[in-house]
Amino acid sequence: MRVVGIETSCDETGVALYEAGTGVLVDQVYSQVRLHAEYGGVVPELASRDHVRKLLPMLRRLLESAGISKMGIDGVAYTAGPGLVGALLVGATVGRTLAWARGIPAIAIHHLEGHLLAPLLEERAPAFPFLALLVSGGHTLLVTVERPGVYRIIGETLDDAVGEAFDKTASLLGLGYPGGPALERLAKSGDPDRFHFPRPMTDRPGLDFSFSGLKTQVATTLRETERTGVDAQLRADIARAFQDAAIETLALKCRRALRETCYSRLIVAGGVGANRSLRRRLEEMVAGEGGEVFYPRIQYCTDNGAMIAFAGCLRLLGGEREGDAFNVRARWSLEELKPIEVDLDAVIPARKR
Ligand code: KG4
Ligand code: ZN
Repeated sequence: MRVVGIETSCDETGVALYEAGTGVLVDQVYSQVRLHAEYGGVVPELASRDHVRKLLPMLRRLLESAGISKMGIDGVAYTAGPGLVGALLVGATVGRTLAWARGIPAIAIHHLEGHLLAPLLEERAPAFPFLALLVSGGHTLLVTVERPGVYRIIGETLDDAVGEAFDKTASLLGLGYPGGPALERLAKSGDPDRFHFPRPMTDRPGLDFSFSGLKTQVATTLRETERTGVDAQLRADIARAFQDAAIETLALKCRRALRETCYSRLIVAGGVGANRSLRRRLEEMVAGEGGEVFYPRIQYCTDNGAMIAFAGCLRLLGGEREGDAFNVRARWSLEELKPIEVDLDAVIPARKR
């Protein structure tokens, strides 16, 4: 079975082809980041319009580069939420139309399920069950993945997502949007001992997060130091203190979650998972717990069509089908999803198991 995956939940247009038993055939992503940069964040209406412009030509190119026609597709998977409604509608409409015209099944995929299952696209894939840390611009979640389709949220942010905190801090420090990668670069030359920011909510039990105070801490430190002059070194030192606090908080909560669940495997997904210092710290922490960490490659950490095609292939082979009506959802809990009844061996290439 060959499934086309379509991702348009936010500011990336992603398309991919996944073939059961073979893996990802082609995967293409177009990022709108330059379009939104001048506004300092994603403008929903501009995002939708750009998906309209890009999606059909990208699908055409996808099939061309795979060397197949529309007749060579057996199913279509599209992100149906959570995300920006207008943006989601573009992918859903195109996906459902393609499936209807071809008389093949279509399947609505939960964006975060895509992220949670993305590590299975790698040769070194985790066995089930595992704990997932999902860290992106919109989400900060700790999720138990018992098996495909069975997810339980055991921790989440009460305010800003960690990616959002990176972006807001970067903006306070005069870096561009999105700020995560720029902040990581700046933090490299920062002095780790100059400032120490608190690790929010680590002093009380539980697995929830809060990142808005950290951003306020950055703003306060900047204000207090303004009198003495804000130079490049000071900005780097603040970036370093912020990044250290955010990473240490994530690592502490992950360790607590591993201990509470008695799981030994941790997967990290979402854009912030690209942060090298976070990866290093989590590896060190999980090794100390006698466990293992798994990351999808960077291109599968951020939004992409491959993870949607893969999740769709699992669900379609599991026999799931949709009626004629379709919908998208800005909000959609992972815990509402149905377990996927499929033999993974039939979908994942042998070398990846
Ligand atoms: O998963 P993603 O591509 O998009 C969604 O939000 O769904 O994540 C984007 C977020 C942004 O907030 C960006 O600043 C952050 O991931 N990010 C990083 C890094 N690369 C991307 N944060 C910290 N360090 C990075 N290297
Ligand atoms: Zn995402």
